Amino acid sequence: MRKPILAGNWKMNKTRDEAIQFILQVDNKLPKSGVDCIVCAPAIILRDLVKRADTIQVGAQNMNENDKGAYTGEISPLMLKDTGVKYVIVGHSERRAYYNENDAVVNAKIKKALEFDLKPIVCVGENLEERETGKMQDVLKSEINKAFDGVVFEDPANVIVAYEPIWAIGTGKTATTEQAEEACKYIRELLAGIYGVKTADKIRILYGGSMNTKNVNDLVAQPDVDGGLVGGASLDADNFIALCKAF
Ligand code: PGA
Repeated sequence: MRKPILAGNWKMNKTRDEAIQFILQVDNKLPKSGVDCIVCAPAIILRDLVKRADTIQVGAQNMNENDKGAYTGEISPLMLKDTGVKYVIVGHSERRAYYNENDAVVNAKIKKALEFDLKPIVCVGENLEERETGKMQDVLKSEINKAFDGVVFEDPANVIVAYEPIWAIGTGKTATTEQAEEACKYIRELLAGIYGVKTADKIRILYGGSMNTKNVNDLVAQPDVDGGLVGGASLDADNFIALCKAF
């Protein structure tokens, strides 16, 4: 049985005070079991949130792939580990698009996260042109194979993949339940090709892209959709609670 995940991706939103307020507001209202409820917050406030979090779990949005050194402005895996976070988003399409996070970097980050006992939430997904020209599977195949090249792990529950079609992110244009299931199922098949069916069956695969309180139930009811990675709709405390209660 895969334990579902509802992960909020706050992106570059919320000051420290706003974030602490959010945690205090939601924490005792979340389901205590049956779903992992996570917020991926800006790095500068992670420690403050971890200290106050009880039911809710905290993740980071990015991490450098090197141990330490001359990388001005970057956050090392050890620094993240030190804040107490358990998860880190890797390869979000915004980082791929704006910060040159290519497949090789994504691959290195996954390996480094696992080395430091951080659970990577690995984002993959096609853009609108790729979807419209029938290249969705090619893009997923290439991204998954490159991301997981040489990646080894003992517990598949520590590896999470998020299918995030770029055309659905922040656009209000959600994938249909059929599109989400088709892509997540295909990702599981790709993972089975690398790690075998038994392992792939234990890896959690999320859908992300304009998920909200109205569409969450139908999306997560799909057999291969094990939860959601939610941006905009995760910023409001009541919405976040409602999203977590969909499981
Ligand atoms: P969205 O973002 O829910 O605002 O579309 C999702 C994401 O980027 O992870």
